[in-house]
Amino acid sequence: MLNTLMLTSELTDDLETAARLLKQGKLVAVPTETVYGLAADARNSSAVNNIFIAKGRPSDHPLIVHMHAASALHDWAQDIPAEAFALAQAFWPGPLTLLLKKADHVDSVVTGGLDTIGLRVPAHPVLLKLLASHQLAVAAPSANPYKQLSPTSAQQVMETMAGKLDAVLDGGDCEFGLESTIVSLVDGAIQVLRAGPISPAQLEAVLGQKVQSPLQHQVKVSGNVAAHYQPKTRLRCVSADELVELLTSTKLKLAVLSFSDLSFNAQPHWQLIMPTNAQDYGRVLYKQLYLADQSGAELILLELPPAGDEWAAVQNRLQRAAYQEG
Ligand code: TXA
Ligand code: MG
Repeated sequence: MLNTLMLTSELTDDLETAARLLKQGKLVAVPTETVYGLAADARNSSAVNNIFIAKGRPSDHPLIVHMHAASALHDWAQDIPAEAFALAQAFWPGPLTLLLKKADHVDSVVTGGLDTIGLRVPAHPVLLKLLASHQLAVAAPSANPYKQLSPTSAQQVMETMAGKLDAVLDGGDCEFGLESTIVSLVDGAIQVLRAGPISPAQLEAVLGQKVQSPLQHQVKVSGNVAAHYQPKTRLRCVSADELVELLTSTKLKLAVLSFSDLSFNAQPHWQLIMPTNAQDYGRVLYKQLYLADQSGAELILLELPPAGDEWAAVQNRLQRAAYQEG
């Protein structure tokens, strides 16, 4: 068990401590605009390997490398197509990960043995400053135990990962709350492999061409396994009608996440009214699922959000969070 320090990004000394720990090959959870990341110096293979151990994540699931600027693309990738620079220019720093052919020197521990690499420049000012002022690049998956909910606050990282990493750098609550959009630019095709804050329409507007969003693909994106982003309590996503029905029929202790107050039918054990705007919803989704999980409920019922492009990232996470085998 490690003694996990809580560092605050408001103190210069704490920022220096975070940088020093990373350079020493330690693991530090860092804030990003999407979710908190479990970071290690991307050039230190044994440090990167410890990320997999801390998360309990299979070592063939590749990690995203976070860089301070697009100018560092050549340090990590080769045969970079023009579209990659166009997307970087438009969306970095920001919640977009580009998959490119990896540079020869990059250790395959980072890429899970693949010859491609995921790269992004995060928009969180604290992390950007840390990377830029120390010439660091960090490999970082979301800072949660494998398959569980991604953390959107430093406190949540501490509660679920303490003892497994050296420090948590507190940079406040995450602005987006859902992981970055992942776009593959390998082999001439442009494909969205994970829906996220940057929509296909936004990508198409920059590229002047259609991008594909295959619903099913074989690429090793860990979010691509059916069960992922899961609360410990069983989660069911239902329509408003089903919800009303279940509220009266079930005897289980319920946590309810709905768009309107339906508790006139029965008193749920725990209830939360969710935002009707997709962006606001995405920001609080993991946090509310995390709280629902801790409420002592036996079942979480969530009222399904509407269909529509702006809800794609939320719908994608909900499907995997509610997945049940058999
Ligand atoms: O917003 C985010 O992307 C957050 C923050 C911390 O940056 N990171 C994140 O990391 O969500 P993680 O590891 O939880 O999810 C990253 C996904 C994984 O599903 C991984 O398989 C995929 O990116 N990935 C990374 N490199 C890849 C590659 N070379 N080929 C295919 N998938 C890759
Ligand atoms: Mg993750």
